[in-house]
Amino acid sequence: MNKINNLFKNKINQQTPIWFLRQAGRHIPEYYSIRSRAKNFIDFCLNEELIVESTKLPLKYYDLDAAIVFSDILMIPWAMNRNVKFTKNVGPTMDPMLPDESKIIKNINIPLLLKPLENSIKTLRRDLPPSVCLIGFSGAPWTLACYMIEGQSSKDFINTRKAVWGSNIWFRELIETLVIYITDKLEIQAKAGADVLMIFDSWSHMIPNNFFKDLAIDPIAKIISLLRSRNINIPVIGFPFKSGGSLIKYSYESNVDCVALDWTVNLSWALESINPSIAIQGNLDPASLIPKHNPFIRENVESILKKMKDRKFIFNVGHGLTPESRIDSVKQVIEIIKEFEI
Ligand code: CP3
Repeated sequence: MNKINNLFKNKINQQTPIWFLRQAGRHIPEYYSIRSRAKNFIDFCLNEELIVESTKLPLKYYDLDAAIVFSDILMIPWAMNRNVKFTKNVGPTMDPMLPDESKIIKNINIPLLLKPLENSIKTLRRDLPPSVCLIGFSGAPWTLACYMIEGQSSKDFINTRKAVWGSNIWFRELIETLVIYITDKLEIQAKAGADVLMIFDSWSHMIPNNFFKDLAIDPIAKIISLLRSRNINIPVIGFPFKSGGSLIKYSYESNVDCVALDWTVNLSWALESINPSIAIQGNLDPASLIPKHNPFIRENVESILKKMKDRKFIFNVGHGLTPESRIDSVKQVIEIIKEFEI
């Protein structure tokens, strides 16, 4: 058994488990040679050999407690025929959906379209040591709807927010359809051997406050209840990015087993406010791993560990590692955690 699943079983007398959001990505030079073997990023995410290799890549560099399967949250919009493309220096783009006009396609066969993801998880679970927790993931309905309506990233997701107010019936149909596809994607990952699931709501801070429960909490609770009804009982980590005070309600009502905190969250506040029966993951600022000299790393990591010592806690960054992250700083963080004794 691995440390992360042990923690969910209340075995907390152990070293703090650690992994990093976006650990498989662009801060490791070898990533680029793996990527260059695929025609484009979608083909990369559909190529079993490349998925397996890139998922394992960070474990060659670091002593980590988890591997997150290499894929992308936008593989669901891809499966929904939104013409998803990843363009260099632009980021992901797709055909924007027009609220009330664009047809929301139903009955897509996610297990069939994402077969390479399922097969890769089977291989990874066989290859990885049992001490490494394998994490499967998906985007949350709101975040996927944001990309699908805007057709790209946006500074304020104004078209999506406009749709919430003015095209609410169509918008809800989109969210409900995404709930089904996301559940299907998480189900195939769990059945193939993932030990934990994570749901990324990267744009939850764009939700108009009075819709937060409807759009960030209830759809997650629905996904989790569907998973449980399909006999999938592994822990789920939710990541409502930069949701501030709404994290409290999320922690009590979404039914996640762990809430991931971004780097802006004050941990003393979190300890007092977040549902004490669930675990916490986070929340080192990934920017702290960029400077060549950062005299604060030790102090900062130790302060997080001290605050969280009596809590079910998974050490992580508060958002993905950036391409500029320094490998030696990531290693330093891991060493500090392994040495830390209370
Ligand atoms: O290391 C890992 O965690 C590997 C798996 C992974 C990727 N994307 C691969 C990827 C995960 C968990 C994701 C999640 C994801 N994808 C999120 C949620 C987390 C977050 O950052 O908020 C989001 C919003 C996306 C959408 C997405 N995919 C964007 C905005 C981009 C381009 C910019 C960026 O942040 O990298 C991608 C491309 C992408 N997905 C890359 C990787 C390694 C980079 C592709 C490349 O340039 O090689």
